[in-house]
Amino acid sequence: MKTTHNILFQDSQDLKEIPSESVDLVVTSPPYPMIEMWDEMFSRQNPEIQGALAYGDGMHAYALIHEILDAVWDEVFRVLKNGRFACINIGDATRTVNGNFCLYPNHARILTHLLKIGLSVLPDILWRKQANTPNKFMGSGMLPAGAYVTLEHEYILIVRKGLKREFKTEAEKANRRESALFWEERNVWYSDVWMDIKGTEQKLPKAMSRLRSAAFPFDLAYRLINMYSVKGDMILDPFLGTGTTTAAAMTSGRNSIGVEIDKGFQQVICSVAHHGVDFSNDYLHNRLLRHYAFVENRIQKSGQLKYTNKYYGCPVVTSQEQFILLNGLKEIHTRGDNTFDVVYSTKPQTWNFDQPLEVANSHKMKPHTKPFQLSILDTQ
Ligand SMILES: C[S@@+](CC[C@H](N)C(=O)[O-])C[C@H]1O[C@@H](n2cnc3c(N)ncnc32)[C@H](O)[C@@H]1O
Repeated sequence: MKTTHNILFQDSQDLKEIPSESVDLVVTSPPYPMIEMWDEMFSRQNPEIQGALAYGDGMHAYALIHEILDAVWDEVFRVLKNGRFACINIGDATRTVNGNFCLYPNHARILTHLLKIGLSVLPDILWRKQANTPNKFMGSGMLPAGAYVTLEHEYILIVRKGLKREFKTEAEKANRRESALFWEERNVWYSDVWMDIKGTEQKLPKAMSRLRSAAFPFDLAYRLINMYSVKGDMILDPFLGTGTTTAAAMTSGRNSIGVEIDKGFQQVICSVAHHGVDFSNDYLHNRLLRHYAFVENRIQKSGQLKYTNKYYGCPVVTSQEQFILLNGLKEIHTRGDNTFDVVYSTKPQTWNFDQPLEVANSHKMKPHTKPFQLSILDTQ
């Protein structure tokens, strides 16, 4: 098993290098309109934005910025295959322009455009990122009629092109079964409020401190990829930044294309490749260990489970989990400057119980009590 990952350094408003109807899933987070850290980036793409902000016309700047994003969403629509999803992480912005403090509802503006171009809107995910800072409340403190509620959530908009995807052939059905989620993951991942994923302050190397990243957490990209695509699919992120989506696609056994306008990110993205194998395998091990901890707990509380996973020999709650298979990474080859090939291991990689990983510790697992094999396998 092998996947390929391409990085294009260019403007996503025109993605002519990517053929129409060639992408299975878009996972992305654009720069958030009306957040000051992105003013310069957007103004470079349309200098009128700088003018509108300087003139104090917030609504005009907001409209112009969204025109840039609209062009990218049009390309997303073109390159998506029928029946495939786009997941867009976006936050609204609060800002005072010309003495007027108000909310710029980016999520609503983007949804309006996505509907207009013909995408079907599905229930979204509210990502609640708690800020523990004491000054998180906005406005007039304890005095009424001038204080504003905190803005501690972002959205993950979920849209689909065309009607539901079909898995027709036996091979497609088998691949879908291997790509399934564990029951306990389904219960959290498919809920409409995510509170268990913390925001991330990406630490960039000093030499690259001029770069703005606003990276989303690896967990967020990994979850979305595993919820809305199957192994071997093609994932696109038109606002790649530090390369989180590429890393999550590698770990998930999917192909990917990442597009980023700022070539300054190249070094950060390439460093993903250097740590990709160990990072991914640890992540997959931890995923299995979480399942193991869940199963142990569940059996203690409610007795034996009905089904067993074919590859790991571990109990699972439903028949749909019997063929889940996490493919461990063997090596990552760099081709040219911006292409990576990932080869997945063909032999089982057994977890070393003498060196428990973070999750095992956090669940106070006793390695010698393990009732089933815990390893990352490959089908080949
Ligand atoms: C919010 S960041 C994405 C962060 C990314 N999810 C991560 O985990 O690192 C948005 C990125 O979009 C890039 N960008 C802005 N306008 C763009 C455009 N027109 N085409 C391609 N990339 C663009 C910015 O340089 C920035 O790196």
